[in-house]
Amino acid sequence: MSLLPHLILYLTLFTVAVTGETLRPRFYRETCPEAESIVRREMKKAMIKEARSVASVMRFQFHDCFVNGCDASLLLDDTPNMLGEKLSLSNIDSLRSFEVVDDIKEALEKACPATVSCADIVIMAARDAVALTGGPDWEVKLGRRDSLTASQKDSDDIMPSPRANATFLIDLFERFNLSVKDMVALSGSHSIGQGRCFSIMFRLYNQSGSGKPDPALEPSYRKKLDKLCPLGGDENVTGDLDATPQVFDNQYFKDLVSGRGFLNSDQTLYTNRVTREYVKMFSEDQGEFFRAFEEGMVKLGDLQSGRPEMDWQGQKLVEHLMQILLVISGVVAVVVGYATESFRTMMLIYAGGVVLTTLVTVPNWPFYNLHPLKWLDPSEAEKYPKPEVVVVASKKKVSKK
Ligand code: HEM
Repeated sequence: MSLLPHLILYLTLFTVAVTGETLRPRFYRETCPEAESIVRREMKKAMIKEARSVASVMRFQFHDCFVNGCDASLLLDDTPNMLGEKLSLSNIDSLRSFEVVDDIKEALEKACPATVSCADIVIMAARDAVALTGGPDWEVKLGRRDSLTASQKDSDDIMPSPRANATFLIDLFERFNLSVKDMVALSGSHSIGQGRCFSIMFRLYNQSGSGKPDPALEPSYRKKLDKLCPLGGDENVTGDLDATPQVFDNQYFKDLVSGRGFLNSDQTLYTNRVTREYVKMFSEDQGEFFRAFEEGMVKLGDLQSGRPEMDWQGQKLVEHLMQILLVISGVVAVVVGYATESFRTMMLIYAGGVVLTTLVTVPNWPFYNLHPLKWLDPSEAEKYPKPEVVVVASKKKVSKK
């Protein structure tokens, strides 16, 4: 009789271990309890040294996670056999503050050698950048493993250009299971940091090949940008991504409403009908923005290594089948084991269930690939973005805000 509780406990633990997620909060509680406070301390130091650096580090989460999952591949330098991501189209001369991650890693190695992955450092540091600049603070899931390889080509193919329009961005984020709301909220990361003139020259002087500036630009803001980024000037000069570039707040969305978005990919979120609703909502309700942003960052951080062209529906089916089969075999094993008062019988039945589950879920059966993701050719889509209806904000609206 006393066998039953043991059977149930054992099977429950085993099933949870097999089906449970690998990422979880406080992953380093036993192995490196100070990990999160060390990262926060180092980020604070970096911010004091140079306020912008925390924004630059926060950007790493996006550029790491979108390219084959959050695996710190972004941080790998080129080798004779591998072209890394640091020099990809979106990253070259643009991503910066890698030394902050180096400092964090060094501090963590001192405290707990060979324990905390760089992929987790990127996730913790991004969260801290937001919290330290006045934004929300949330619990991050940890337990990622670092990649030993990187792909410049994948980064080139995947990362969006500042020319991208909202329709393109909606499609792109959807491929990563990120909704329109997630995409707009995550773009709110441009509430901190700066961008180069290089990223906006076309919209100041030749939007969509028209030889004219982007009509969505509010005239006095355009004059300001023209002065900052004159034709033929130094394209590495930087401008603020919103009016309060050191504070994480909803000013970015207020700026979009008034036609003062820095990047085309920012302003397009207000000119597009679908995304405009979220821009308006976030510009009016900072709490709503913060909640959506947290949610988006957690989802972004959940992207695991594995090529993005996978079949999401197939993956969900595998997970469900695995859980169902394991639970059924567990229940059958417990019932039969209890009825026959035999631990051996129970284990044999459960082992059979595990073997069956493995056969069903591990091989790449064709029925898991019935919904492959359709990838656009990003170069084509970005070269010729579809023109979108432009809503130029009225001055009245601006002064009300
Ligand atoms: C929606 C698509 C996005 C596009 C097209 C985009 C594009 C860009 C571009 C072009 C810059 C300026 C780079 C330069 O001129 O050198 C920039 C800066 C930045 N991006 Fe994004 N971004 C996007 C989404 C995101 C997301 C999801 C995050 C974070 C979760 C993020 C975080 C940042 C930050 C913090 C900066 C400022 C970095 C600094 O000051 O060094 N971006 N982005």
